[in-house]
Amino acid sequence: NIQGFIFDLDGVLTDTAELHYLAWKKLADEEGIPFNSQDNEALRGVSRRASLMLIVGDRPYTEAQIQEMMERKNSYYMELIQNMTSKDLLPGAIAFLDELRQAGIKIGIGSASKNARTVIKRLGIADKVDAIADGYSVQQPKPAPDLFLYSAKQLGLEPAQSIVVEDAAAGIEAALAAGMWAVGLGPVERVGAAHVVLPSLEGIKWADLRAKLSDIAR
Ligand code: G6P
Ligand code: MG
Repeated sequence: NIQGFIFDLDGVLTDTAELHYLAWKKLADEEGIPFNSQDNEALRGVSRRASLMLIVGDRPYTEAQIQEMMERKNSYYMELIQNMTSKDLLPGAIAFLDELRQAGIKIGIGSASKNARTVIKRLGIADKVDAIADGYSVQQPKPAPDLFLYSAKQLGLEPAQSIVVEDAAAGIEAALAAGMWAVGLGPVERVGAAHVVLPSLEGIKWADLRAKLSDIAR
């Protein structure tokens, strides 16, 4: 009964984690705040503001300074994504999207990023998706279910007809809170709460995945 897929973008269809890291790192260096790629792991799927809060810790910044730093980081990030192309799609992404389209499955993007539309355009997949929910769509960030519920509505689907593909713990939590099916990409320590855990989209076939899900439903 699954009729639509909602894909997270960063870490699922493309690996922007490194670009987010470079942008946050530049900001942290300018502010004299220690920050390394290990610290960056905790920022996976985390909203822009919450990411900054994790970086600055208890340093006393004013709201105006926080706003300025979020804008500064974003300007560095926007510069970096200008160079993205379809080569930056993760292995298996295009093949899976094409297979789903051929099977008549609706496809939405559910990303917390305000840059999602730009990234989708740069990746060259705009014509493969039916709807985009991004960082402008709802107020409450993941793990709240709001973004995925918004996305299902865009696709004209009920939550139970929708399946979310996510790489972040907060995203899996959001999908489950929305009453949707959840596929987690990555280590069990991170996405183990999902109905199905896969290493990546590489080699994934819709028929195999559907069989796994109907085993669970039984
Ligand atoms: C996604 C990414 C996060 C990012 C967030 C906001 O969830 O995984 O790393 O912080 O989007 O992105 P934005 O482009 O709006 O700063
Ligand atoms: Mg993600």
